[in-house]
Amino acid sequence: MKNITANELRKMWLDFFAEKGHAVISSASLIPENDPTVLFTTAGMHPLVPYLLGEKHPAGTRLTDVQKCVRTGDIDEVGDNSHCTFFEMLGNWSLGDYFKKEMIPWSYEFLTSPKYLGLDPERLAVSVFAGDEDCPRDEESARLWEEQGIARDRIFFLPKENNWWGPAGITGPCGPDSEMFIDTGKPKCCDECSPACDCGKYLEIWNDVFMQFNKTAEGTYEPLQQKNVDTGMGLERTLCTLHGKKSVYETDVFAPIIGAIESIGDKKYGESEEATRAIRIVADHVRTSVFIIGDEKGVLCSNVDQGYILRRLLRRAVRYAKSLNIPTGKLSVVAEAVIDEYKEVYPELAVNHDRVIGEINAEEERFEKTLTNGMREFEKLCNYLVGDTISGKASFKLFDTYGFPIEMTIELAREHGLKVNVDDFNKAFEEHRKKSQAGAEQKFKGGLADHSETTTRLHTATHLMHKALKIVLNDENANQKGSNITEERLRFDFTFPRAMTPEEVKEVEKLVNEAIAADVEITCEEMTVEEAKAQGAVGLFTAKYGEKVKVYTMGTFSKEICGGPHAKRTGELGHFRIVKEQSSSAGVRRIKAVLE
Ligand code: ALA
Repeated sequence: MKNITANELRKMWLDFFAEKGHAVISSASLIPENDPTVLFTTAGMHPLVPYLLGEKHPAGTRLTDVQKCVRTGDIDEVGDNSHCTFFEMLGNWSLGDYFKKEMIPWSYEFLTSPKYLGLDPERLAVSVFAGDEDCPRDEESARLWEEQGIARDRIFFLPKENNWWGPAGITGPCGPDSEMFIDTGKPKCCDECSPACDCGKYLEIWNDVFMQFNKTAEGTYEPLQQKNVDTGMGLERTLCTLHGKKSVYETDVFAPIIGAIESIGDKKYGESEEATRAIRIVADHVRTSVFIIGDEKGVLCSNVDQGYILRRLLRRAVRYAKSLNIPTGKLSVVAEAVIDEYKEVYPELAVNHDRVIGEINAEEERFEKTLTNGMREFEKLCNYLVGDTISGKASFKLFDTYGFPIEMTIELAREHGLKVNVDDFNKAFEEHRKKSQAGAEQKFKGGLADHSETTTRLHTATHLMHKALKIVLNDENANQKGSNITEERLRFDFTFPRAMTPEEVKEVEKLVNEAIAADVEITCEEMTVEEAKAQGAVGLFTAKYGEKVKVYTMGTFSKEICGGPHAKRTGELGHFRIVKEQSSSAGVRRIKAVLE
């Protein structure tokens, strides 16, 4: 088999589909936009859902990319041969353009042609959909595979459980698929041995989804207005299979990362099962954390949503790093190796280098402060425990006082042959959440949907302040993390590592009030996101390649991608005053300001 590197495989993939008329689009952010059903982008198709449902994509009807993905459902499995929480998915799409009769021959060509992967056709096996009440048996795909030269006894008809693909959320575009496998040559495990039985004879490398349906909230399958193709090939898994390696952790993408871990600890990959597992966990969790923090919509550690997953990953990495005798504060060495490995393909990692390293160091330090005492508390708990279950109250204390993510307590308990009362933990957590929100809770009006005059003015003032912050703090990375506007005030969260000084607060007020006094005109133009960037516009969201966005310009002072609306002139705003500057979460500051 071809001994190609990750870089060669990415390029080969994109070149192959570009030759077949596909536009190469860049990877979307790991943080999904407007999708409350999942925390991270979990597949290449995820950012393309609106286009699979029929919206027009600015780059056309044939697309290809390499998408960064995070799946954390199997976090506890990481450490074995195959599980990773971050992976790259090579993908190509037909948005109502070609379908099975083009896709299957192309798949065969990419897999077997000596110009591409050059796999021996005798070692390939495929599966197609067996059919049920929602969708007929896929004889067409089977015939197309046969025409390519795949023998009938290597074509397996499998049910929905195996050969159907839908997005991570419950509803959305879905359809029957055809999966491609490498036959490792191992003997059949039983008479019915097939790619469905997971015995290790067949290793999946690619999935062609024939997306014809939209699964509704009621659970029915509605035909889509267009027939799409969505395919996905996992980069690490394919490299592993191509190279005949036992584990994805032995592919070239992991070599420098594992090298870095070995250089700071005293254990070597392969020296024992425990060491290998711990090294894989540290490698995986730090790699994923680097991508989450270093993303264009980067997230920092917190106790909710993506920030909580990040915290879990980093704290688990710290715990396993200790088992490798890695000194405290050294995970950043691993993070540097990850950035080096990936910065050419994902330039945002180099751009956000300082944020990544700063946050990993800060979280290690935060955890370190409580870890020893927490472990002591945990041991004490174990010694005095009656029965085999740690109570919800005790596990909540470990979370609240010592910063132990509940999953970590469960894992520690398991290592001690114990269980945790998770239901009671959840109740305690919920109660705590309600208490800490009581008082602070208020019904917000405002946001982009509220176009009242006051909120419009506050919205415009937010842009001026955003720019003023970058100037006064001399930090281009002082970026918007969130904005919330009510009739009374604006609230603005932005990335910045420390409290502002009173002088800095005054200076920001001064700059904003000067921009107001200058009474400049506010104009709005539509342009592609590339043009907006070229003009130096700042923007919170990562628009898709070529997508048209609105850019608001306020004289020479501020230029920002935004949905609007805004005042006509800055002079309409009145006097700007900052009421409060405080911490919002680690590395994020919050400002409340008013117009008077
Ligand atoms: N969306 C398909 C997958 O993730 C290609 O496997």
